[in-house]
Amino acid sequence: MTLDSKRPERIRLGVNIDHVATVRNARGGARPDPVRAAMLAIGAGADGITAHLREDRRHIRDEDMARLKAEIAKPLNYEMAATAEMLAIARRIRPHACCLVPEKREERTTEGGLDVLGGQNHLRPYIAELKEVGIRVSLFIEPDRAPIEMSKSLGADIVELHTGSWCHAIEAGDTAKAETEFRRLKSGAAIAAAAGLEVHAGHGLDFETAEKLASVSEFVEFNIGHFLMGEAVFVGLAQAIATMRLAMDRGRGLIPVDAR
Ligand code: PXP
Repeated sequence: MTLDSKRPERIRLGVNIDHVATVRNARGGARPDPVRAAMLAIGAGADGITAHLREDRRHIRDEDMARLKAEIAKPLNYEMAATAEMLAIARRIRPHACCLVPEKREERTTEGGLDVLGGQNHLRPYIAELKEVGIRVSLFIEPDRAPIEMSKSLGADIVELHTGSWCHAIEAGDTAKAETEFRRLKSGAAIAAAAGLEVHAGHGLDFETAEKLASVSEFVEFNIGHFLMGEAVFVGLAQAIATMRLAMDRGRGLIPVDAR
């Protein structure tokens, strides 16, 4: 490291607590409470909380969103589809940021990025109306030049690059595809940062993929949910988050590679 080289920035960790609500809803009562999980996550090192209020309310519910905004001391990232109903809720709750995602009723999770090219006329007023009340707007997109440039021209502040294809290729043991997908993410991050967009990433990240992706200097935030909640079953949520924090800091070169 030279004397004038800048110390890399730590990547923010947004913890998605949707699946605490999934478990709660399986029994229909009040436990486990996603707001309690959010507080615990923040205590363990999360820099923000992400929650997705879906049209079918399969996990997070309206009252969870309101309580999260009222009770947590860190930024709330509200994932939502671009619908009139969700816009009205977001404008009432006023989260720190809204991440617009595609939503299909039959999907198990958010599959693929938002179609910002085909949907530009639909999305533009939603982005403007969110920004009008001071909410930062993020678009969850595939890591390619065309959707990134369209996101910029639509007025988004942030793009969240979809890491699903990369993570799936790794899980499937398809090394060639994984390498191609990693290069796609890396070049997407560079294109987005050069366009003046803040660059986030999410979907399917685990300790190994988060550590590797953290080496790409343009990323400033990762949003991670499913893997952390699964790990929490075995080691507890605080430990899972602490281990993730270390993985991200190692990947960013902030701590030695052998620090565990
Ligand atoms: N970012 C966005 C926009 C998402 O839709 C999701 C899934 O809800 C995530 C991040 C988190 O993905 P995962 O739960 O696979 O970590």
